[in-house]
Amino acid sequence: MNKTFFIETYGCQMNFSDSEIVHSVLVSAGYSAIENYKEADIIFVNTCSIRDNAEQRVLNRLQEFSFLKKKKTHLKIGILGCMAERLKEELIEIQQSVDLVVGPDAYRNLPNLLNTVETGEKAVSVLLSEEETYAEIEPVRVGDNQVSAFIAIMRGCENFCAYCVVPYVRGKERSRDFETIIEEAKKLFEQGYREITLLGQNVNSYHYNDVNFAQLLARAAEVNPLLRLRFATSHPKDLSDELLETMSKYPNICKAIHLPIQSGSDAILKKMKRKYDSAWYLDRISAIRRYMPDCSISTDIIAGFCGETEADHQNTIKLMETVGYSSAFMFKYSERPNTFASENYPDDVPDDVKSRRLTEIIDKQQELSLKSNQADVGKTFEVLVEGVSKKSDKQYFGRNSQNKVVVFDHTNEKIGDYVHIKVTDCSAITLKGSRHCELQSSEAIQNK
Ligand code: SAH
Ligand code: SF4
Ligand code: F3S
Repeated sequence: MNKTFFIETYGCQMNFSDSEIVHSVLVSAGYSAIENYKEADIIFVNTCSIRDNAEQRVLNRLQEFSFLKKKKTHLKIGILGCMAERLKEELIEIQQSVDLVVGPDAYRNLPNLLNTVETGEKAVSVLLSEEETYAEIEPVRVGDNQVSAFIAIMRGCENFCAYCVVPYVRGKERSRDFETIIEEAKKLFEQGYREITLLGQNVNSYHYNDVNFAQLLARAAEVNPLLRLRFATSHPKDLSDELLETMSKYPNICKAIHLPIQSGSDAILKKMKRKYDSAWYLDRISAIRRYMPDCSISTDIIAGFCGETEADHQNTIKLMETVGYSSAFMFKYSERPNTFASENYPDDVPDDVKSRRLTEIIDKQQELSLKSNQADVGKTFEVLVEGVSKKSDKQYFGRNSQNKVVVFDHTNEKIGDYVHIKVTDCSAITLKGSRHCELQSSEAIQNK
């Protein structure tokens, strides 16, 4: 019988996308995926190192898997992803039940490594590559989302923001072959997917031969007008007018930009080595608004970076108000070993101060999210139907172009349809509405 595996994934969308590659590599080598980890012959954990609590969660989970291994001695445990890359052999010392440690550029080698592990040895493979993009490996999409898929278009990051572990665990920046991306988009559309998110740590600096990100996005948008395109993440320094113009030209390129600011203080941005200041950032915000007045803007913010004063913190709150973000991911600064910040600056904002500032940032964002949603009440949006609402099976949910979740009473629409919803009510998290006109199936919109 085939050996079975289970993959549990932590971290960013890149990691989820990598798990689909791993899945594909393993299935091609004759392994079968299984949904219940208790029954698997091999458990993989695809890990994240971005903050200390992300690593702690994985280490706690590993303890559970170790208990299982005591009862089931043939079970093998493999650590993949960013923690594997950061800690290497040390992971096996920390947790003896680990058999296999494989970094993000070594997944093609998994079948060989598993053969080694079968003989009872431990295996570690953590070399980073300057070329690997897994370009021709067809990811196996495992989730229950049949509407929306990710395509990784580049790997690695060379920005070396002072706080960030990613450049160390993901290696050099490299862009994937342009044609393979377009082919994958076409295939996904034929399989019924209606939304694709192009992924990379810094997608705006994509370049393959002479194709840049704006050109790639335009080509992907031309696959079919019914295929929506999104992308993440943009670094402010690389957000070009050419890209904004391309976005404005194609109705199926979603009007939503995730543009992490990190801090609203110029002194802190400089220490963070973000390569822009608040004036540059606000100029990019004006450019977005000029090209696409209806574009939503979301962000990432770090509270309590090294040396952050109360005045720096207030600048962050002010900048949030100036931009009026529709949503944000907000974090407490977590020192990561070997980064520029950990080697050069003391982590000197006390934890209770970090927590208080984070709470203030979250409260401000709640207020801004609600305001942004309230401004949508009365408007009608095209919504791509994604599934049944968690709260009631009489309601469906989807997203509008601005990436806001819209909940509405289900009538006869199907998952994957585009419908027009008039927003009648909202919370800070969702828009609520009802069908604005007759059902428009995908085909109806296409023939319009
Ligand atoms: N490449 C993306 C984001 C990568 S990580 C970008 O540059 O925008 C996602 C977010 O985690 C970052 O935007 C940052 O806000 C946060 N983050 C990264 N390192 C962190 C750290 N050491 N402590 C707290 N938050 C961190
Ligand atoms: Fe980290 Fe900065 Fe690279 Fe984003 S751009 S992954 S924050 S180093
Ligand atoms: Fe985490 Fe690695 Fe992504 S550190 S955020 S899983 S690139």
